[in-house]
Amino acid sequence: EKGGYEHFMLKEIFEQPNTIYDCLRGRLDANVPNIVMSGIDKYAQQIMNAPRIIIVACGTSWHAGLIAEYIIEETCRIPVEVEYASEFRYRNPVVNKGDVIIAVSQSGETADTLVAIENAKEKGAIILGIVNVVGSSIARVSHAGAYTHAGPEIGVASTKAFTAQLAVLTMVALKIGHAKGSLSIERFQALCKELADIPEKVELVLQQNEAIKALAKKYKDARDFLYLGRGYNFPVALEGALKLKEITYIHAEGYAAAEMKHGPIALVDENLPVVFVATKDAYHEKIVSNMQEIKARKGKIIAIITEGDAVIPTLADDVIAVPAADEIVAPMLSVIPLQLLAYYIGIAKDLDVDKPRNLAKSVTVE
Ligand code: M6R
Repeated sequence: EKGGYEHFMLKEIFEQPNTIYDCLRGRLDANVPNIVMSGIDKYAQQIMNAPRIIIVACGTSWHAGLIAEYIIEETCRIPVEVEYASEFRYRNPVVNKGDVIIAVSQSGETADTLVAIENAKEKGAIILGIVNVVGSSIARVSHAGAYTHAGPEIGVASTKAFTAQLAVLTMVALKIGHAKGSLSIERFQALCKELADIPEKVELVLQQNEAIKALAKKYKDARDFLYLGRGYNFPVALEGALKLKEITYIHAEGYAAAEMKHGPIALVDENLPVVFVATKDAYHEKIVSNMQEIKARKGKIIAIITEGDAVIPTLADDVIAVPAADEIVAPMLSVIPLQLLAYYIGIAKDLDVDKPRNLAKSVTVE
């Protein structure tokens, strides 16, 4: 059942070229280009004209929501908010008729996410569910939506469901941006192609497996980790830190890289590994200068970079390179080494990576 892998987590990490492909298949045609998503198509007008979009989710799914916020705002020019379902449901939020609420959930059973959309539905919002488990409660309560088709995820730490959520949310954004005209035809075409190329590129990232295993051995005894990113990679930093906490019980924090100087930089010394998610994008120069700030304080730098980057390897202690990709789709690549790093540190510490202590696969209590 683990398909020859030692753990479900590793199997699921390695499944990602296929799960992302399955998610795009039958929906994305990069040649035309065209994106067909029947559930979303039915509500395309309402989404295009929505005064705003609110994404509700928890945990890793919330991180996918944060990336989607940046993608939707960029391509659709619709204001997006991302909320923890637990906060949203209890704080009497303003929800108006016509608002679009997107619930993101692997299990489709997370109690807080479910109640959040039930409440919003009563207030007249349109509810879209981006869910992995077919026929789950969140899928049933939603007006429409799109399944992530990642297959059963057994490992408690979400991996393949996350990249599938990103693939679906990106397709939704491109589709709406294209329909609305806020995304130029050239850009739509280019991004469809970028998306179609992702499964193959994920395959290439997975070839770094041994290098990441070696990194894990080197850093496994660190007491704390910091994960930093900017732009589309900021939520990837949050996700990397969450993976490490769950699987290795090492304290880790994710931050927007530029926030460092507003406090957390005080933590940096020669014992602190700092993971930079720093693939080539519009923020590259900025993140390089954040890296210099860490280096000046003797932090150990591990950087996820784009192949061919000549600058960061001169600054970082260790680098893992991923193939070049448009910044909008890059998180589906940059997160993979972070999943593997958490996995291999967990293994090096002899922990139960598939079933970390205190955690359940789906949180059906509030
Ligand atoms: O099933 P959901 O996507 O609604 O679950 C949300 C979170 O409970 C989940 O992502 C959790 O944070 C994972 N353990 C992360 O790896």
